[in-house]
Amino acid sequence: MSLTPQWLDELRARTTLSALIGRSIKVTKAGREYKACCPFHNEKTPSFTINDEKGFYHCFGCGAHGDAIRWMTDQRGLSFMDAVKELADAAGMQVPAPDPRAAAKAERANTLYDVMAAAQQWFVAQFQGLEGAEARAYCEQRGLKPETIKAFGIGFAPDSRGKLKEALKDFGIDKLVEAGLLIAVDDKEPYDRFRGRLMIPIRDPRGRVIAFGGRILGVGEPKYLNSPDTPLFDKGRTLYNLDKASAASRASNRVIVVEGYMDAIALAQAGFGEAVAPLGTALTEQQISMLWRMVPKPLLCFDGDAAGQKAAFRAAQCALGGLKPGHSLEFVTLPEGQDPDDLVRSAGPRAFTELLEKSEPLVEKLWKTELATGPVATPEDRAGFKQRLGIHVANIADAEIRRHYADAFRERFDALFSRPAQPYRPAPQRKGPWRPNTPPPATHEAKTIGSQGTDILVRGVLTALLRDPSQIIRHQEALAGFVPRDPGHARLLSAMLDSALLNSGKETLDSGAFLTILGDDLYNMAQALLQGDGTAFGFNRLSGDKELAGAQAFRQLDEAIRLMKQRPELEAALQRATELASSDLNEANYAEQQRLRQEKQEFDMRLAALLQREDVL
Ligand code: UTP
Ligand code: MN
Repeated sequence: MSLTPQWLDELRARTTLSALIGRSIKVTKAGREYKACCPFHNEKTPSFTINDEKGFYHCFGCGAHGDAIRWMTDQRGLSFMDAVKELADAAGMQVPAPDPRAAAKAERANTLYDVMAAAQQWFVAQFQGLEGAEARAYCEQRGLKPETIKAFGIGFAPDSRGKLKEALKDFGIDKLVEAGLLIAVDDKEPYDRFRGRLMIPIRDPRGRVIAFGGRILGVGEPKYLNSPDTPLFDKGRTLYNLDKASAASRASNRVIVVEGYMDAIALAQAGFGEAVAPLGTALTEQQISMLWRMVPKPLLCFDGDAAGQKAAFRAAQCALGGLKPGHSLEFVTLPEGQDPDDLVRSAGPRAFTELLEKSEPLVEKLWKTELATGPVATPEDRAGFKQRLGIHVANIADAEIRRHYADAFRERFDALFSRPAQPYRPAPQRKGPWRPNTPPPATHEAKTIGSQGTDILVRGVLTALLRDPSQIIRHQEALAGFVPRDPGHARLLSAMLDSALLNSGKETLDSGAFLTILGDDLYNMAQALLQGDGTAFGFNRLSGDKELAGAQAFRQLDEAIRLMKQRPELEAALQRATELASSDLNEANYAEQQRLRQEKQEFDMRLAALLQREDVL
């Protein structure tokens, strides 16, 4: 670095920060300082202050802080050197270049910018001239308006190996080769790289042309030809249309990343000026950082085809290392076979806006992609799926975010495979009069309503029926078709039904007499139930108290029996849906699985309320 601290101090001193910032956002004077709504975060009341004396800005809301150079790099997206140069230009200072090598390099770059600017002019002239007719017709056929063509500087390279070389010969063949405009292979005469192509200039954040993309008119291979990397152009650090999109993104608070530059152009024409595109390569970490300097959550809007979706997934993976609290990516999936250009043309800007509003967060994108990657039907497959998710988590550098991702994936995983989604949360101890001395339920039961939920319910119902055997006859029909999971309970219920039927002529069937009819082994089981936690259930309390054994107890028992019968059916349906979703994951199967899960959760809430035991949830 050839810049001295003294020189930089001088540059800062000669720059009026409030005026510089005032060029991009609205600032108002407040005492000795200036105030503005912070451009680095979303706010309505200004907490961004600018102190011209100290040459610093500071945001009390988000902590953004810096000097003039920092403003240019962070807010305008310039590199450090570009920021310095632009500030020096404005302050009338000469950027020192004491290092002769650096000076030579800067000099070379300077001429290269000139070469590119000259080439740009020439391509535009060809587009407008006689030879440009076909290119103009092509643009018209693609629906590009004259204003758009002008704004994006679209040009044309005639189908010739030497016309550009001839037109720009004053720069020297070497410069034209270095700029990537001529191809020099071995000892052959250098010749024009771009021939018979629509020329799209690629600009740096300051708006200078640094490269070109050339599209063939109509069909042919390759469809697009880009400039090679040159001293001015580094594909991985350039985003097409960033120069124009920065300003637009500040207005819309949004950045849209599309795959092709034609998409960015078409979107701008449709009113979405904040679209940028990588240059035929996968999105790099540097490009993602550039996007994050513009907005916290850039929207990736890649084509709906397999290649586009693969690129989106790669971008998702690439973003993990750099995630910061509040910074992420959002994903918009386009209909299969359509790119943003096709979509705004066929469906219009409103349809596109609607699609943008349905964007998916990064976590969802990773989850869905991994889930669709392979089968998850066997334990091994599931373990593999879990492992792939784990790798993504491990790639997150920020510890806090990493933890949240681990939680999010675990929750989804457990939900999909019907494991308890919620960790056990003990409910506050009930102090109600109906349950003064109940011991806390055994933890293995309390952890989940899972399939034990049904067992708890079965015990409750059996207990109620043992306490008031006359209820057996009332519910005979419903009970006859039900087989409890526990074989002991199944035998008990069957014996209870038999005994109740045999004794149905009797006027009353009291509990004690009933128990003796059951016989030895079942007698013990029944005794255990009557002394166990089944008695804690509301309807057992009520039915045990003759005074209160009224309509409410009946209703509760009715509902309990109904739920007891429905629950295994619901569980089986959920099980089937989960298996189906695991082996053949598509939107419909996933949605059905989620619907049943939801239904079961609601069911269990009713169950818990009935049992007066939220703690089983
Ligand atoms: P697409 O093939 O998706 O382009 O390539 P597109 O924008 O839909 O193009 P049109 O609408 O047919 O004109 C997306 C991007 O991939 C790079 C280019 O940067 C292009 O913008 N690309 C594509 C190449 O570099 N070379 C190619 O041959 C094709
Ligand atoms: Mn296209």
